[in-house]
Amino acid sequence: MAFQSGGIHGYNQVSHGQLMAALKFKDDAVECLKSINLPEDELLNVADYGCSEGYNSLVTFSEIFTEFRKHKNNPITITHTDLPQNNWTEVNRLIVESEKSYLNLGNIFYSTIGRSFFNQILPKDSVHFAYSSFAMHYLSVKPPRDEGEYGWAFHNAKSQGYKDMKHLLNIRLDELIAGGYLVMVIFGRENENEDPSFSRFSFHTIKELLDRGEILPEEFKYYVWHSYPYHASEIKEILQEFESRVDVVKCEYGKSLFPYYAEYIETGDFDVYEKNIVDMMRVMMKNALFTSLKRSEEEKIQLLDKAIDEVKLSLRNNQQPLYQDYLTVIIRKKPLIV
Ligand SMILES: C[S@@+](CC[C@H](N)C(=O)[O-])C[C@H]1O[C@@H](n2cnc3c(N)ncnc32)[C@H](O)[C@@H]1O
Repeated sequence: MAFQSGGIHGYNQVSHGQLMAALKFKDDAVECLKSINLPEDELLNVADYGCSEGYNSLVTFSEIFTEFRKHKNNPITITHTDLPQNNWTEVNRLIVESEKSYLNLGNIFYSTIGRSFFNQILPKDSVHFAYSSFAMHYLSVKPPRDEGEYGWAFHNAKSQGYKDMKHLLNIRLDELIAGGYLVMVIFGRENENEDPSFSRFSFHTIKELLDRGEILPEEFKYYVWHSYPYHASEIKEILQEFESRVDVVKCEYGKSLFPYYAEYIETGDFDVYEKNIVDMMRVMMKNALFTSLKRSEEEKIQLLDKAIDEVKLSLRNNQQPLYQDYLTVIIRKKPLIV
């Protein structure tokens, strides 16, 4: 299946919110690992899908494996995967050099795969514990929006999301051993008819440019993020199709204050809050905006600057809490009945 998104360069510096959300499920992950039926000296195979530049994976797995090691001593392999053009130099540097690296626990081995997770990328029945944080909501193709649709969860995105999630679950389940777990944290939305709070920057700002005629309707049609923020009821509906293959351990919506917002509430320092959001949105919006524009490179950069001005305006005019919205989904591939 074709996949056209690029890696997110600079992601490590702007993804503290995702890390804080993922760490909330550390205990769930450890419980899953502990309950896998594996003799003491056998290899435990872990896969991490969509690791980006690796910092969040490194911290999360260092914490998970530290806790796991208090109970079991199995040798571990972990395979970090992302797109071919991901910043693999940074992933390798961090894992090998960081003081926080899980490699320091000993008897843990890692590898990386640069290949879209829309393919089966690991052998059938080989993974004991599959993990993915803020990645499985990515879509295989960008669905165009219909006229009058402005936000994130529009009609065609939903159909593409359903199709992609079913495909992803099917191949991840093929890779999992019977009795193995898939733990995923994905972008979610709290209310079915409302976008996540984050979209006030990602979509409303570009709509302002559309309303002012700076961006053409034909371009806005393709200003689409390569992702879909699922509602818990949608994932539950999708999982019904997998009833014969999985047990659902958890499928829950959650939200936490975005760390930059929480820091702003604590310090009252608006300039720092603004700088953090602006730096993050520059990284996050660039790919979606540039691929939707039929312009010279110079014009694209100018329009990104204008979008960033809108982000600043929106920050000043709307000081409502900013949340990280997510869904946690934990499923277990049904054990073999002997
Ligand atoms: C928002 S980042 C999440 C990174 C990290 N897991 C975290 O929790 O912070 C999403 C990552 O998923 C990757 N990704 C998106 N689509 C992908 C695909 N089809 N195959 C592999 N990786 C993909 C992106 O390249 C990006 O690095």
